[in-house]
Amino acid sequence: MKALTYHSSKDVRVDNVPDPVIEQSDDVILRVTATAICGSDLHIYRGKIPAMKSGDILGHEFMGIVEDAGSGVTALKKGDRVVVPFTISCGDCYFCSKSLFAACETTNPGRGAIVNKKSVRSGAGLFGYSHLYGGYAGGQAEYVRVPKANVGPLVIPAGLADEQVLFLSDILPTGYQAAVNGDVQRGSTVAIFGAGPVGLMAAASARLLGAEQIFMVDEHPYRLEFARATYGVEPINFREVDDPAELIIERTGSRGVDASIDAVGFEAKGSAVETVMADLKLEGSSGKALRQAIAATRRGGVVSVPGVYAGWIHGFLFGDAFEKGLIFKMGQTHAQRYMPKLLEHIQAGELHPEVIITHHMPLADAARGYEIFEKAEEDCRKVVLTPGGPAAG
Ligand SMILES: NC(=O)c1ccc[n+]([C@@H]2O[C@H](COP(=O)([O-])OP(=O)(O)OC[C@H]3O[C@@H](n4cnc5c(N)ncnc54)[C@H](O)[C@@H]3O)[C@@H](O)[C@H]2O)c1
Ligand SMILES: [Zn+2]
Ligand SMILES: [Zn+2]
Repeated sequence: MKALTYHSSKDVRVDNVPDPVIEQSDDVILRVTATAICGSDLHIYRGKIPAMKSGDILGHEFMGIVEDAGSGVTALKKGDRVVVPFTISCGDCYFCSKSLFAACETTNPGRGAIVNKKSVRSGAGLFGYSHLYGGYAGGQAEYVRVPKANVGPLVIPAGLADEQVLFLSDILPTGYQAAVNGDVQRGSTVAIFGAGPVGLMAAASARLLGAEQIFMVDEHPYRLEFARATYGVEPINFREVDDPAELIIERTGSRGVDASIDAVGFEAKGSAVETVMADLKLEGSSGKALRQAIAATRRGGVVSVPGVYAGWIHGFLFGDAFEKGLIFKMGQTHAQRYMPKLLEHIQAGELHPEVIITHHMPLADAARGYEIFEKAEEDCRKVVLTPGGPAAG
């Protein structure tokens, strides 16, 4: 089959690779009908994620048709159309039983990314996300093996197009969890840093939950303008406004917002020193977006962090957070927890995640898709790849 494989930084290719096979009785083999490129894939693409091997198949946002099912699969049958969450979770360990699916302690034979790990078990395995997270083959491919198939995949009713539901795999639950973690409710004020797909899904979710005022910070005018027109955000371009947090404070009665959402993560731009230090491995993450989020949040408010962080940050103003009495919530998304409810919102016409898609491409053009998305060329917001030709309806 054909699959998008990693070779080295900025070198991904569609190669011929062996077809996946059933390895465990609760596996299914999925024929992928649609798959997307995530901002998390860009961290890999830029060579920033350790433990990648040449030939690893990328992709953790995908859906398709069940082609084959192991003898222990009871929740699905051949021919079902499903969306697969990016976190591989067993469904019955200590953490899965608390609906903390991203913390599943049975699916990741890798070490994860905790620096001061001691003997704690690794969190959930992830599709297409390095050997730190189990080395599972990803779904930017014609076929993919889906382990724990009784727990993760969500069956999609007929009548919904692939593109309407594809983002249930990751960015929609991620944006939603970010808003829920931010305790966003009717009348809330929210500042979202990052107008990429995750920031946009956070804006859609914040609106759904009743937020009254949403600020959005980025450097790409086309992303900010889309968010203004679609979700009614107040756009702030950090290339034009020197200190977005200060502007947000001014516009919220010198208090700051109820919740800030950092949808940028460890490769945040805007601090040349931290970018150089991170490249030299003297710094784990750029703290630029996180510092802005802390500064923009009112006393007693929440800093919700869906953006991925790694290792340490020297410029993390923990004292400021203490003085303001902030609440921090963060981490990988417990996708399975939110998928059914979000599907209902899509069916009810209350969420339209597909509106962020700008690029539809065959899998064969995936390398170009990475390049366009990474460079934010052609006003790219989100790339969807269709391995088997145009998406199913
Ligand atoms: N928690 C999870 O489970 C989960 C799931 C999916 C993605 N993510 C992470 O979410 C983050 C965003 O993903 P995405 O798909 O939207 O990626 P993306 O790269 O398309 O978006 C990031 C956006 O942040 C902007 N940005 C850069 N520096 C900034 C700064 N200092 N202030 C404000 N904006 C800044 C960029 O211009 C870009 O538009 C990534 O770190 C990704 O790994 C986490
Ligand atoms: Zn993702
Ligand atoms: Zn588990």
